[in-house]
Amino acid sequence: MNFFPQIRSKARLLLVFLSLFSFVNKHLLSSIAADVKSNQVYIVHMGKRQHDEDIQLLKKTHHQVLATVLGSKEASADAMIYSYKHGFSGFAARLTATQAKTISELSGVVHVIPNQLYKVQTTRSWDYLRLSSHYPTEFVQKSKLGDGVIIGLIDTGIWPESDVFSDEGLGPIPSRWKGVCESGEQFSGEKHCNKKLIGARYFAKALEAEYGQTLPFNTTENPEYLSARDAIGHGTHTSTTAAGSLTTNKSYNGLGVGTVRGGAPQARLAMYKVCWNLDGGVCSGADILKAFDEAIHDGVDVISVSIAADMPPNPEFDAKNGIAVGAFHAVEKGIVVVCSAANTGPSAQTVQNASPWILTVAASTVDRSFPTLIALGNNWTTMGQAMFTGKDTGFVSLVYPEVSDLDYPRDCKGLAANSSAWAVGKVVLCFTSEFSHGPSIDDVAWSLRKTGILALIVAENPSRSLHSCPDNLPCVQVSYEIGMKILAYFRSTSSDAQVRISPTKTHDGRPVSTTLAYFSSRGPNSFSPAVLKPDIAAPGVNILAAVSPSELELKNAFAFMSGTSMATPHVSGIVALLKSLHWDWSPAAIKSAIVTTAWTTDPSGEPIFAEGEPMKLADAFDYGGGIVNFNRAADPGLVYDMGSEDYVKYLCAMGYNNSAISLLREHSTSCPSKTPSVLDINLPSITIPNLRNVTTITRTVKNVGAVDAQYKVVVDPPFGIQVSVQPDILKFNSTTNTISFSVSVFSTHKVTTGYYFGSLTWTDGVHEVRSPMSVRTVVTLSHDG
Ligand SMILES: *[C@@H]1O[C@H](CO)[C@@H](O)[C@H](O)[C@H]1NC(C)=O
Ligand SMILES: *[C@@H]1O[C@H](CO)[C@@H](O)[C@H](O)[C@H]1NC(C)=O
Ligand SMILES: *[C@@H]1O[C@H](CO)[C@@H](O)[C@H](O)[C@H]1NC(C)=O
Ligand SMILES: *[C@@H]1O[C@H](CO)[C@@H](O)[C@H](O)[C@H]1NC(C)=O
Ligand SMILES: *[C@@H]1O[C@H](CO)[C@@H](O)[C@H](O)[C@H]1NC(C)=O
Ligand SMILES: *[C@@H]1O[C@H](CO)[C@@H](O)[C@H](O)[C@H]1NC(C)=O
Ligand SMILES: *[C@@H]1O[C@H](CO)[C@@H](O)[C@H](O)[C@H]1NC(C)=O
Repeated sequence: MNFFPQIRSKARLLLVFLSLFSFVNKHLLSSIAADVKSNQVYIVHMGKRQHDEDIQLLKKTHHQVLATVLGSKEASADAMIYSYKHGFSGFAARLTATQAKTISELSGVVHVIPNQLYKVQTTRSWDYLRLSSHYPTEFVQKSKLGDGVIIGLIDTGIWPESDVFSDEGLGPIPSRWKGVCESGEQFSGEKHCNKKLIGARYFAKALEAEYGQTLPFNTTENPEYLSARDAIGHGTHTSTTAAGSLTTNKSYNGLGVGTVRGGAPQARLAMYKVCWNLDGGVCSGADILKAFDEAIHDGVDVISVSIAADMPPNPEFDAKNGIAVGAFHAVEKGIVVVCSAANTGPSAQTVQNASPWILTVAASTVDRSFPTLIALGNNWTTMGQAMFTGKDTGFVSLVYPEVSDLDYPRDCKGLAANSSAWAVGKVVLCFTSEFSHGPSIDDVAWSLRKTGILALIVAENPSRSLHSCPDNLPCVQVSYEIGMKILAYFRSTSSDAQVRISPTKTHDGRPVSTTLAYFSSRGPNSFSPAVLKPDIAAPGVNILAAVSPSELELKNAFAFMSGTSMATPHVSGIVALLKSLHWDWSPAAIKSAIVTTAWTTDPSGEPIFAEGEPMKLADAFDYGGGIVNFNRAADPGLVYDMGSEDYVKYLCAMGYNNSAISLLREHSTSCPSKTPSVLDINLPSITIPNLRNVTTITRTVKNVGAVDAQYKVVVDPPFGIQVSVQPDILKFNSTTNTISFSVSVFSTHKVTTGYYFGSLTWTDGVHEVRSPMSVRTVVTLSHDG
């Protein structure tokens, strides 16, 4: 028998980690190279815009500042990329490091930070088109379906002809809308916008400046449109999920017949394209900041951002990067900002977009499977997972690559078209792992599709999301355990081993339990450990939605995609519904409603597991409050509210000085003389990263339910932690609408521990307002002990 030797596996594991580091290093090197490069894009912050400031004047000021350093008006015009005017005052420009430093010393300039690159957050390839549709999650809709709410997406653009963006039955565009529908390559402002897609713009100047004149995108392989048209499919997919119109009877060759629709099918969409077709979608921080600036001005209610910084995340930038800064200004204006947690799980501390004003979304699976029958010649049948709508193979030969390419012995990733003669007309069994090098299984299958190989049976970690393989070469996923059984059969058959693969059926509901996706980035929050991240989870695995078709002439294409990118617009759609129910709620109130009412078991009552090695019960660092539950979020009972003053308090607590804070707020902002504790920020969760002995924190709740209400506290303390709440009964009436309480947390541990999880819930018998609690005890030795 030939098992992978354990020691070998370890060596391979090490190699992979090393190669991950070398990947990281390459990126570090390229960013260092960018620094050395004479011109880089910098973002110059000049503080909060004053209400009475004239926009044209502001722009002129920006040019004057730049001209002071560059020496002339012409040089300034040449270097200027964007003027930011709505959220705050500032600009992006191409500068040398010396010029950037000089500008940072000018009066009126608050901060100069180098631009950063971002990536879209999908793990699956979106080039697998020609699919039809079915919507995987169900949450009951309130009647208005988000009517009147405007969702802005900062993404890769949109395919406007798709049926899911039809405006049939929609009322007029909200009169407060101030956005535009910008024409560009293959995109007509007049023709392509309607009452559903009410705005479309694109931002590429900073990325162009970053790459110089020769754009590395827009090649034959990576076509691109210099307009809001989506060449990648990612933005079309996220837009569909957030607010696609109802389109019935869509299916992918009969798989999963149903209705494709967004979370808020009556909400309006505005696309701000910032990511371009290079490396699956790359975006520049300065472009993103401009998109926020315009979206704030245009009048969107929700901003959905399925983008995160390229790895490694730079902690120095988290509160200052394009997304965090843009989001801060949007939230100050009452706009809810929903961002993806990133796809770098399941390792701890990988969550991004971790500022407390952002609603950060993790990805879960749905209770749906694609069972695909595998029958062996010995009459044994088993089930794999695939998306196979082709013909039943009938009984054919089964083969296994006993000796494959030397680099990837027996790994599916080592299968190559130019050495596949042995497998023609047969089904190939192979093993793979997320730690092995090589192309993705999808890429391998697509490269083999013309060889005459009939199917791959891919044995791997069962938690991986479905592959997108061609219909004439399906990839049927099985667990290692089933893979070993099939291998045992293969080796026991001296003659021809036989196998038969039947087309996939769709199976919704149990018996597939909900899990937190393997790739979904995890807490704790490495930027600010006392702020729980991610906030919430939503479906993000094998989500079917509209994408860009392969030809300009085509209208409709659908694809399955997975990623925190796909989870994010589910939450954005739900936020739109909540907005239409509660126009007066602040972004923090909406976030609180979502976090405190989430499902902590799956909708059928089964526990939620988190994928990883090993699989474990999901906790707050996997899914924040849990899995988003619209019906309960619509009527949460109590909310933990916050305003921009609270966020400033947070920045003070984080040790940002006044100058750093004025990056986000006006110059006059100053921290209180007694530094606030980050533990007291009024979050809907309690996270104590270093409990020494005992600590007391405060929270304030606001009653948003019936005026007269009485709540009592129920604590499920983390292991070894004692929790007492004062007062433990809250009585609301017509004059008392907000009440503060304190929580004393005491550790009985004698040693430093890892995190233990629990919860603090206020209940009036109807509502349950649950705050996840995460506590780590830290015992430090004193110098004299
Ligand atoms: C992409 O290439 C086409 C054809 O060469 C050109 O017309 C188009 O303007 C290019 N788009 C961008 C974004 O550069
Ligand atoms: C759904 O579509 C299929 C194939 O396009 C068609 O045969 C069927 O009649 C349609 N069903 C409904 C209810 O429209
Ligand atoms: C498989 O089952 C069929 C019918 O049930 C039977 O005729 C055949 O002998 C079985 N084959 C083996 C290898 O057990
Ligand atoms: C097969 O193709 C791969 C890349 O496509 C190449 O690296 C390899 O050398 C080729 N092998 C043979 C035997 O031609
Ligand atoms: C504020 O902090 C920044 C970076 O931490 C530092 O460069 C700057 O000098 C500080 N400013 C003041 C006024 O302390
Ligand atoms: C921990 O707190 C308790 C209660 O406040 C106190 O009695 C005890 O001395 C403290 N222990 C240490 C080691 O500080
Ligand atoms: C509401 O409750 C507060 C505190 O318990 C009390 O002082 C106040 O009189 C009550 N108001 C009314 C209208 O009952």
